[in-house]
Amino acid sequence: MTIIEDIQAMQGVIQDWKHQNNSIGFVPTMGFLHEGHASLIREARKQNDKVVVSIFVNPTQFGPNEDFDQYPRNLEADITCCKKEEVEVIFAPSREEMYPTPAYTFVDIDHLGDFLCGAKRPGHFRGVCTVVSKLFHIVLPDRAYFGEKDAQQLIIIQKMVQDLNIPVQIVPCPIVREKDGVAMSSRNSILSSQERMAARVLSQSLELAKNLIMQGETLASDIQSQIKEKIQFEPLASIDYIEIVDAQTLTPLENVKGDALIALAVYIGNTRLIDNYRIHLEVT
Ligand code: PAJ
Repeated sequence: MTIIEDIQAMQGVIQDWKHQNNSIGFVPTMGFLHEGHASLIREARKQNDKVVVSIFVNPTQFGPNEDFDQYPRNLEADITCCKKEEVEVIFAPSREEMYPTPAYTFVDIDHLGDFLCGAKRPGHFRGVCTVVSKLFHIVLPDRAYFGEKDAQQLIIIQKMVQDLNIPVQIVPCPIVREKDGVAMSSRNSILSSQERMAARVLSQSLELAKNLIMQGETLASDIQSQIKEKIQFEPLASIDYIEIVDAQTLTPLENVKGDALIALAVYIGNTRLIDNYRIHLEVT
């Protein structure tokens, strides 16, 4: 396995691979890798001749009062994880390598970026779309792997690739959870043990929503208020949003039907966690 920090060097390797007709699988990450990331890497390993994992904590997707500085980093552990998963290259550019001069060009997305996390984190998806486009241009992957944990990000990247005719197949991968149901996240490592217990309220409230829907409840406002009640019962949790939206357009639904997404963002102490449940209900 090689670790490449330099864009030109990365492009050279890609060029060689392309000449030899190798397919390239790409897993973009911000590092501090866990089993969720590993599941994407394994999927990439199965489907491609060569696998590139990028590790870059992208400053442009963090707001001025967000946790860029506190975001967990551990390159040594990430290297061990990637070696174990038989990755060919870790691409780990510095901030200066990715943004050598102030950028004047961005990739932004209308509409889909206005809801959920986009509404709460202005500029976040502009940062994500811009860095993912840059990485796609550098790595030129045949397939790129994104987790359903970040449901809005996945939907936005799928649309960006379609709108801009980027020749890459986006492969969605299911949410990987801890034994107690908590969705794996690099940010879980910041939680105190009490907060880690409290974090269970996200998946538990989604489970509650799932049960309500299975019992025939479809009214979004009722489901939302039951989720709200459950989360408010947890003293360390404060709600950022609870939304029930159409999974194609991300616009709010009055009734759960078709391809629906229940998405949550909740602060546990100072740490903002997200989780979601996507459900497909036949329209009768
Ligand atoms: P990061 O949060 O490191 O996540 C990298 C990828 O891993 C994303 O596609 C994310 O959805 C996936 N992932 C994280 N936790 C997961 C879990 N529990 N189960 C399944 N997949 C999971 O998302 C980003 O980085 C950045 O925004 C990035 C796309 C790299 C752009 O900077």
